[in-house]
Amino acid sequence: MLSTASKADLSLLAHVEASQHYPWTDNQLASCFDSGYRVRLLWQDDEVVGFSICQRVLDESTLFNLCVLPQCRGLGYGKVLMADLIEDAKAASDSVIFLEVRASNQTAIGLYLKSGFSEVGRRKGYYRCHDGREDAVVMALSLS
Ligand SMILES: CC(C)(COP(=O)(O)OP(=O)(O)OC[C@H]1O[C@@H](n2cnc3c(N)ncnc32)[C@H](O)[C@@H]1OP(=O)(O)O)[C@@H](O)C(=O)NCCC(=O)NCCS
Repeated sequence: MLSTASKADLSLLAHVEASQHYPWTDNQLASCFDSGYRVRLLWQDDEVVGFSICQRVLDESTLFNLCVLPQCRGLGYGKVLMADLIEDAKAASDSVIFLEVRASNQTAIGLYLKSGFSEVGRRKGYYRCHDGREDAVVMALSLS
């Protein structure tokens, strides 16, 4: 089941986010409840197993964060969250969805390719990582 999160759900998001290699801080997560953002929670029984954070500006959506609990990965939840955000963007008549992903994150890139996205650019050394810097891969899904 999917639901739209509010600021009261911050601790649920933070619990899932803590599993990331480079997790956002609680303040970064909290700032995503400002207007224009859409935060979706994916539930399995009574537990949140994943979330997505998108922002819409005019007719463009940008996916800022997507995460599934480590013990629940590889079960199709990522695909469910991607299908949900694509459906929402189509319903809002968006023309495109953008996202950025670390070049080393082949799992996420595999999911995005499978969801119809393609690479449209690279930002050299955009992300700080544990042993220096790495590129951001910019991907887009055209809806028009
Ligand atoms: C990226 C992430 C959200 C994928 O979620 P998931 O629930 O495991 O994904 P799914 O089970 O729906 O798999 C969807 C596709 O992703 C790809 N994928 C999943 N696990 C993979 C793996 N271990 N290696 C390579 N590709 C993989 C495959 O293309 C898969 O499709 P398939 O099962 O038909 O082959 C999850 O791994 C995650 O939370 N990672 C940490 C956070 C993160 O990196 N977020 C992205 C930030 S941009």
